[in-house]
Amino acid sequence: MAAKPRIAMVGPGSLGSALAVSLSNAGYRVSEVVSREGRASRQRARRLANRVGARATTTNRPALTAQIVWLCVPDREIARCARSLGEASGWKGKVALHSSGALSSDELSVLRRKGAAVASLHPMMTFVQGVTPSLEGVPFALEGDALAVRTARAIVRQLKGEVFPIQKKQKPAYHAWGAFASPLLISALVTAEQVAGAAGIGRESARRMMLPIVLQTMANYACRGPEGAFSGPIVRGDAETLRKHLKILGRIRGTKEVYLALARSALRHLPTRNRRLLQEVLGF
Ligand SMILES: NC(=O)c1ccc[n+]([C@@H]2O[C@H](COP(=O)([O-])OP(=O)(O)OC[C@H]3O[C@@H](n4cnc5c(N)ncnc54)[C@H](OP(=O)(O)O)[C@@H]3O)[C@@H](O)[C@H]2O)c1
Repeated sequence: MAAKPRIAMVGPGSLGSALAVSLSNAGYRVSEVVSREGRASRQRARRLANRVGARATTTNRPALTAQIVWLCVPDREIARCARSLGEASGWKGKVALHSSGALSSDELSVLRRKGAAVASLHPMMTFVQGVTPSLEGVPFALEGDALAVRTARAIVRQLKGEVFPIQKKQKPAYHAWGAFASPLLISALVTAEQVAGAAGIGRESARRMMLPIVLQTMANYACRGPEGAFSGPIVRGDAETLRKHLKILGRIRGTKEVYLALARSALRHLPTRNRRLLQEVLGF
């Protein structure tokens, strides 16, 4: 069997750290962890490099031995970081990847011009500092140059994820979809915590007390789809209950607008009794 290619991880943040560990566990050699020049940045790179047996280096003097260079820097930094890395020679035949959900492989065109094959490869998964989620069954959206696409497919297979092809122009919508699946879900829950406060329940308790209903809702959504998982006053058509909700939410800053936006979506996409009356109460 051919030896796995060496991989350089650029940006030892939430995604970069988790990927470096997962790649290393899957038998890849992470040869370099690349950071910016700042002291704290270099320290983070050293910590990750020690963890995966790599060399820590910086974007100014990277001296990369890796055949694959994976940029895990914030979207706004990808092109700048590629320009900085592109100042070094030796890009011919290498593969460069970035993992933005919204941006296309063209963000790496400076490296393409230097002879690298480039692709964007985005895992539909949430990564936060200190957590390495399983990538088994995780979809990875992929587009780019033929060699980079082939290389990325092989990596995702080893990580037990599943590649699906995406077109460049579909990426902003694809990423907005992902925003609903995790960060905005958390935003809905943090709004719920504010509302719990008005019922005399503190944030910590609210989180603990909400977990059973949140987890059961997800389980119902997984087994029965949105229609089968939807309960509460909207599906029952209880207009007076909605009126009570709106009255109290009007007194809790920033919560009524979230409620109204989600209720509007529910009326549009989910089963509802007394639709006309509910629309009237909600002011739609
Ligand atoms: N987090 C997720 O759930 C997730 C999921 C899928 C895809 N992604 C994608 O992954 C990428 C990184 O996101 P993240 O959430 O991991 O961000 P993050 O936690 O903020 O990490 C970004 C890392 O990049 C470093 N960095 C910033 N600018 C740099 C530059 N010019 N050169 C070198 N390193 C630089 C930062 O280091 P310092 O600031 O310390 O210098 C930090 O280590 C983004 O494209 C994002 O869309 C993230």
